[in-house]
Amino acid sequence: MKTTQKYEFNQEQMAKFQEILTHYPQKRSAILPALYLAQETWGEINPAIMEYLASLLEMTPAKVREVFEFYTFFRRPGCGKYRIDVCHTLSCALRGAKDILEHIKKKLNLEVGETTKDGKFSLTKVECIAACDKAPAIQINGEYYENLTLEKVDKILDSLE
Ligand code: FES
Repeated sequence: MKTTQKYEFNQEQMAKFQEILTHYPQKRSAILPALYLAQETWGEINPAIMEYLASLLEMTPAKVREVFEFYTFFRRPGCGKYRIDVCHTLSCALRGAKDILEHIKKKLNLEVGETTKDGKFSLTKVECIAACDKAPAIQINGEYYENLTLEKVDKILDSLE
């Protein structure tokens, strides 16, 4: 029989959650910070966590999923420790996004949509991440890296534990 892990914030996390709620007129408006808190707590967002958040925020799980799926920076189950999002939209494309992507793929021996065997890196291609004036740009776990060159990419990836 499959065991389902139960997800519940501990006392400290619940206190943080309650504090977050004080900033919003309605519980449901706190969905993004609540998702962040859950990700910080469990390292990813999975369906059971979405259900738990839905009950806390008095929303349907489907609504939580909708928000979760809209934002690429939340970590999906099976995602590596570092999720690399490579922008391939126009400004980045014109300024070498393809080379950046190919370089990362080669360096990490990884295809788009995959995670390295050691679980360290996942690679995705994403639409514009609103750093067009500093293209080419990528995000790693939501953090921006801009005006990239292949050398910069090497330095960044080598610096990640
Ligand atoms: S096109 Fe890449 S950040 Fe906008």
